[in-house]
Parts: sequence; structure tokens; C-alpha cells
Amino acid sequence: MKNFTFFNPTKIIFGQGTIGALKNEIPAGKKIMLVYGGGSIKKNGTYDEIMRALEGRQVEEFSGVEPNPTYETMMKCVEKVKATGCDFLLAAGGGSVIDGTKFVAAAALFEGDPWKILKTFGSCVKKALPFASVLTLPATGSEMNSGSVITRAEFKAKLPFKSDLVYPVFSVLDPMKTYTLPAKQVANGVVDSFVHIVEQYLTQPAHAEVQDRFAEGLLHVLIEQGPLALKEPENYEVRSNLMFAATMALNGLIGCGVPQDWSTHMIGHELTALYGLDHAVTLAIVLPGNLTLRKQLKHDKLLQFAQRVWEIKSGNDEHKISEAIKKTSEFFESLGVKTRLGDYNLGEEAIEKVVAQLKSHQMIKLGENGDVNLEVSRQILELCL
Ligand code: NZQ
Ligand code: ZN
Repeated sequence: MKNFTFFNPTKIIFGQGTIGALKNEIPAGKKIMLVYGGGSIKKNGTYDEIMRALEGRQVEEFSGVEPNPTYETMMKCVEKVKATGCDFLLAAGGGSVIDGTKFVAAAALFEGDPWKILKTFGSCVKKALPFASVLTLPATGSEMNSGSVITRAEFKAKLPFKSDLVYPVFSVLDPMKTYTLPAKQVANGVVDSFVHIVEQYLTQPAHAEVQDRFAEGLLHVLIEQGPLALKEPENYEVRSNLMFAATMALNGLIGCGVPQDWSTHMIGHELTALYGLDHAVTLAIVLPGNLTLRKQLKHDKLLQFAQRVWEIKSGNDEHKISEAIKKTSEFFESLGVKTRLGDYNLGEEAIEKVVAQLKSHQMIKLGENGDVNLEVSRQILELCL
């Protein structure tokens, strides 16, 4: 196991009826900016519960954060935060709203051009406003991590940034608020969480038994509970397990002391920026091709994945590995998420465009060993046609 520092300051408040905790968790005297998306929080009671908890407090609102939040929209929020003098942000929604709020937290106090926050992947962030979240879509782990992904629409650039200053102070996770999710978003959430785990687990052995067993346990939960959530949308225990699994998949724990890949995500971000595909859809397309092309490098962990996660016992090592990759694709498809570029009417021409985008965003040394260069990315995409 490699040396590591594990730091995660986000308090998680979990369970039915917990939105009321906002009342005591947000310090008195703060002027709050409530940030949300296209209105789902108004339809499922989240908005009303937030407003009840914040009765008597100073609350401003910013709505209209789109899926894959844009720099352009979030800069409007920055202006409103500055104009109204808000000093605490509250994100209510899925990963897009939370990511957008993280950017606003950093940009509102940033001296200079805020685009630099993305250009430097967050290293230039020196201060940020405090913020919290009310999560309504289990998927990204943004509710308990320090990452954010923002799209600059005019440049078709979707870039990540990270900073210890943008961990949420606390996040409220009420599984009942996920009942209204369309099946497509439930499936996306399962796929996204699955791939977060895989990007931290399917690399090379690091003798990290704790992290490996945690990762495998979380994958088992997703494989078991994901289809159940689609079948029984109002099963509280299923929703709870899915929600906690998604948070644990990307809160830093399973990534401690192990190599991490993230090439599937970075290639996927370009597909979203160019073609507007949902984040999870891009992952379902890229992951199988990525694992297939790099199966020699990942041989030992792929075998472990085949045996421990998919419980494949028969055949030689090569057979087990290709079966595991096949079962992974089949799992995504069984949730209703298609796994080929062709399923979205994309072909060879898309590959050229994605590779050009990767080049312009300096995504030229991806993967756990930094050896996923532009040519390797191209070969991965060829396998995704
Ligand atoms: O905008 P509203 O009306 O709220 O509707 C949303 C949106 O249309 C809807 N929704 C959310 N909760 C709902 C609901 N509809 C009904 N009932 C509910 N309870 O779902 C739609 C999608 O929401 P979005 O927030 O875009 O989805 P998700 O949580 O999957 O977030 C995706 C974004 O997160 C980034 C992705 O790149 C993408 O931009 N990621 C962030 C990460 C991080 N911060 O660590 C890591 C991830 O890998 C990912 O890159
Ligand atoms: Zn993701």
C-alpha cells in the first residue's frame, strides 16, 4: 500500500425526514443562497421542506442549473451571490447542482478570471465560501468530495477541478427524495457509481486489502440493489443502500493508497462536451473498451474482479477476464444504458473529434501509469464503436 493522507471533513446527515436538520446546521446569521436545477426539488417536496427548515432566515434563490452545469450559468450565480451579499451556499439536487455550487463557492471569492479555476484544475483556489448540500440523486459522490466538473459551453470544454476548500460542510441524504427519479437517472447513478469504484480498484495490485474488499462490497451492493431500485422505486431500504453506496464510492476512502485510473472519465467528459450524452452513458460506452484494450496491464486486478465480484469460477484466466468485461457491459445494458457509440449514432468521425479535444485539454497522459496517450485513447474508442 502506498503512503496516504485521508481527509474528509463533510458531515453526512442520513435518513428519512432529515432535511429539518438544516435549521441547526447552518450557522445563525448567515445569508443563504439556495441553488437548484430545473425544478425537480419543487415537485418532490424537497424545496418545501428546505423552506420550512429555514423559516425566519435570510434566503436568496438561484435556479436553472442545468445537467452538466455550465460556466456561463454558474457565473450568473456568482454575480447574484456577490450582489446579495450571501455568505453561505446551499445546493439542492444532483451532482450537477452540487458541482455548480462548488464552483460558485470558489469563484465568488476568486481574484482574477474565474476560468483559471478550471484551467489550473483547482490548484489556484485559495479561499471559498462555505456550503452544504441536500442530495436528491445518488451518483456522483459530489456530496462528500472535493471535486467538481464544469462545462464552458462556448468552448465545448468540460473540465474538472478539485480543492480541499470545496468539501461540503455537511450533506443531507434523504433516500425518500430519490423516489421521483426517472428510471434513466436511477440507472445513470448506478453506472456512474460503479465506474467510480472501478477507476480506483481495477488498476494494479497494491496489497490494499481494506480498500479492495470495500470496493468489491460496494460493487456487490450496486449489482444487487440497482435493478431492485428500478423494480421497486419506493422501497426505502433499497434506496438507502444505493444512496450510501454512491456516496462511499467516491469520498476518498477506497482510493487511499492505491493507483487510480480515471481515463474512462476523462474520455467520457469529451463525449458529453461534444455530443451532450449523459455522463454515465459516456462511461458505459468507454469502460468496456478501455478494460479490453488494457487487459494485460490490468490482468491481476481484472482476474480478482472476475472471481470476487462476478464470481466467475470456470475457465482459464483469459476466459474469466473477458467474461467479467462482458458481464459488466451486460449489467449496464440490463439497466437500460446502451454501451456502444453506434447506439447513439456516433462513428469514426466522433473518435477524431474526441481525440482532438483530449489534446486541446492536455489529457495526454491518462490512466494509472500515465500511459494512456492520444493514440491509446483512440484505440480505446475504436473498441467502443
Ligand atoms: O435539474 P432538476 O430539475 O433538479 O432535474 C435533475 C436533472 O434533470 C434530475 N433530478 C435530480 N434529482 C431528482 C431529479 N428528478 C426527479 N427526482 C429527483 N429526486 O436529474 C437530472 C440529472 O441531474 P444531474 O445532477 O445532472 O445528475 P448527476 O447527479 O448524475 O450529475 C452529473 C454531473 O456530475 C458530474 C458529471 O460530470 C455531471 O456533470 N460528476 C461529478 C463528480 C464529482 N463532483 O465528484 C464525479 C462524477 O464522475 C461526475 O463527473
Ligand atoms: Zn462519474
